Order: sequence, then C-alpha cells, then structure tokens
Amino acid sequence: MEGKVALVTGGSGAIGQQVCLYLNRAGVKVVGATSRFDLETAQVLRKQAIAVGIEIDVVAFDAADFDDAGRAIAEVTKQYGAIDILVNCAGITRDAPLRKMTDSQWQQVMGVNLNSMFNSSRHVIEAMAERGWGRIINISSVNGQRGQFGQTNYSASKAGVHGFTMALAQEVARKGVTVNTVAPGYIDSPMIQAVPENIRTDILGNIPVGRFGQPRDIAAAVTFLCSPQASFITGAQIPVNGGYYMGH
Ligand code: CAA
Repeated sequence: MEGKVALVTGGSGAIGQQVCLYLNRAGVKVVGATSRFDLETAQVLRKQAIAVGIEIDVVAFDAADFDDAGRAIAEVTKQYGAIDILVNCAGITRDAPLRKMTDSQWQQVMGVNLNSMFNSSRHVIEAMAERGWGRIINISSVNGQRGQFGQTNYSASKAGVHGFTMALAQEVARKGVTVNTVAPGYIDSPMIQAVPENIRTDILGNIPVGRFGQPRDIAAAVTFLCSPQASFITGAQIPVNGGYYMGH
C-alpha cells in the first residue's frame, strides 16, 4: 500500500490511533482527523507515533459538520494528494434509556456516528471513482447488530452505518472502490471504561474468548480490508467481537 493516502476520522480515539499506526506500518501516508476541540489529544498521537518511528499528520474538523469536513478534506488533498483510503471511525456514546434520552443526546450521536459518514465520504468518493481505486471502511458496532439497553441512539446509528456501506458499495463496485463495515465488539477503551463496572463484568462473562478486544484487533481487520488482496470483498460487515455475537 506504499504511497497511498489515508484519512482516519476519530484518529485520536483508542481504535482510531491503532488504525493510524497499522496503516502507516503498511506504507500508507496517514492523516488522522479529530474534532477541532481535541487537537491537543491528537498531537499526543503524533508524538507517540514519532517515538516509534512512524509519521502521522493530524487535521482538525468536526466530522458531524458537512462543510467543515469538505474544507478539511480539500486541505488534506492539496497537501498530500487525493485520498485513497477513508476510515470513518469517529464515534461517541450518549447512553440513556429512551424514556430519559434528550433530543440533544439523540442528535449528537446521529451527527458524529451516522451523518459523519455522509459528510466525509461525499467529499472523497468522486475522486476515488475517477482514479479507479479506493477503500472506505466504516466502523460500526456489535450494538448496531444486536441492540443494547440504553443505546437506542447508538444502536440505530451503528445499524445505519452498515446500511450506508451496502448501498454505497453497490454504487461504486464497478469503479474499483470497495466499501466495507467493521463491527467491533467490546474493546478495551475509555468508551468501555465508562460503562458501570457491574455491567462491564456481565459483558465480559458473555465474551466467548474471555477478554475484551484490543484496539489493534480492529486495526488489523481494517488494514486487511484496505489491502489489494481484499479487492473482492465489498458491502461486507466483518464482526470483530471475540464471539460475543454471531448473528447478522
Ligand atoms: N436489560 C434489562 N434491564 C436493564 C438492563 C438490561 N441490559 N440494564 C439496566 N436495566 C434495568 C435496571 O436493572 C433498572 O431496573 P429497575 O428500574 O427495575 O431497578 C433499570 O433498567 C435502570 O433504568 P434507569 O432508568 O434507572 O437507567 P439508568 O439511567 O440508571 O442507566 C444506562 C441506564 C445508562 C443505560 C446504564 O444501564 C448503562 O450505562 N448501561 C450500559 C450501556 C452499555 O453497555 N453501553 C455500551 C457502551 S460501549 C459501546 O457502545 C461501544 C461498542 O460499540 C460496543
């Protein structure tokens, strides 16, 4: 994948950071995107990467904002060349039972988890199709597949992620562009640490492999889907959940 350019939204998050590192190790020029309010965290990622001899650049934009995404993607393209790989990894939770959920909790999750895919993909898809090569990987969740108490917003957004994947995959299949979903299970990350401990213990007991996933488990699947060897895989959803859920 030498010479390819990748943009990873949510690049400063636990999974996003590992995706950046894995792609960079595979020879890709990686730009990690992060929300404008989180640029400082993103610089930490950059320093960590440099410490292990990896060069990652950082761009700040609000993935939930169409125009901001367009502005940032135009800047990245000008500086590094057209984007070959887009990993839509920006995601948040605002858990509450529906009876208590506010409009703001619903809208924030939809904006970052679902609208963001349109906002970024819309600005890269034309150039990918024109050049006849592209990879879009959308990060969903096991909770988009099976639902989760307290996550009507999150589960709806993550189920929507794969609907988007399947539709776009069909639109660009003849153009050398593949579009796939990776659906992580419970991954050892700040998002999971925020779940009340008794619930986390229950979840762990239901993961057949007996551990939470690591961010690198997701990064490895994403990197494979980006590779030339994965050119016949499109519109797929790859579960990476330690056996926690084996349905569709
Ligand atoms: N199934 C059935 N009942 C449940 C339940 C479940 N899974 N979880 C809680 N309840 C029950 C409680 O026992 C309690 O019952 P009683 O009222 O009879 O005592 C009731 O629901 C609690 O309801 P409340 O209105 O009081 O809820 P709350 O405001 O206290 O908290 C919550 C609800 C915030 C959703 C909390 O349960 C929670 O944080 N759950 C974890 C949600 C979760 O797993 N999120 C995943 C985050 S990680 C992620 O999303 C990454 C990924 O992709 C995997």
